[in-house]
Amino acid sequence: MDTPQAANTAANTAANTGKVTVIPTGAALGADIVGVDLAQPMDDATYQQIRQAWLDHLVLRFRGQQLVDPTFLAFARRFGTLDKAPKHAHGDVEDPFPEITVMSNIVENGKPIGNLGYGEAVWHTDMSYNETAPIGSLLYSLEVPPSGGNTGFNNMYRALETLPAELKREIAGKTCRHDSSRNSAGELRKGFKDVSDPRELPGAIHPLIRTHPETRHNALFLGRRPGAYIIGLPLDESEDLLNRLWAHAAKPEFEWYQVWKVGDLIMWDNRCAMHRRDAFDPATRRLMHRTQIRGDKPFFDPATLAA
Ligand code: SIN
Repeated sequence: MDTPQAANTAANTAANTGKVTVIPTGAALGADIVGVDLAQPMDDATYQQIRQAWLDHLVLRFRGQQLVDPTFLAFARRFGTLDKAPKHAHGDVEDPFPEITVMSNIVENGKPIGNLGYGEAVWHTDMSYNETAPIGSLLYSLEVPPSGGNTGFNNMYRALETLPAELKREIAGKTCRHDSSRNSAGELRKGFKDVSDPRELPGAIHPLIRTHPETRHNALFLGRRPGAYIIGLPLDESEDLLNRLWAHAAKPEFEWYQVWKVGDLIMWDNRCAMHRRDAFDPATRRLMHRTQIRGDKPFFDPATLAA
């Protein structure tokens, strides 16, 4: 049987007008898409199959792609308007592709060329500390280390479905503040104060149960563990409830890990999946280009409970 990489290479001569093959990972989320060359134009029928696979599997992988920034962005734009990237480490340099964020540990002329370095990035939902957050993100690999730097994803629909009934009752109607002062590597963002009490931290407040606007399914919505606070609870009760929710959500049965090869493009749905990244050897190089699809305000629709 063809590997996903071989099948994509075979498709690399034609525009994308055919039937897409979706191969689920067999884990709680994730699927390979084969038979598409993302550097080529794509008709609407092909795009719709991919969008449906994204909604069904939460994370999609396209192996063996050969993209440059304009083709990467052209594919991403099929899914919506792209966010401008936050200014990255070399933000003083004129940037021809402002929707691309460089994720890298590489240092050139004494300056990091990208974000997030080589350390672990904890489980998170992209930019959930804002009032509106990207619906999805795409990450394309240009250089990968020989080991480490794998990216994990987890299925937050599944986490909610399997949440013990008493925990579900405890979080019904509750909201959580998502700390905006630190990134997923734990670094204090520019312009923020180092505050230790989660009740004092800045950030958007969102429901703990979130309705996906397209699938109408509900997902557990946690953002990041560090700095989180459940509104209205004494601090010790908020910490205890968050610890129990995270102990459940971070179970391996909800996860799938992407082990990167050069030419992999991964896209994930931030409305129902979290992600994290393993650390890797700082003496090795990792270079990814990332873009994200502009999002909406997370909400919970009570009508979903009646359905
Ligand atoms: C991210 O958190 O968006 C980066 C993930 C990665 O570098 O694998």
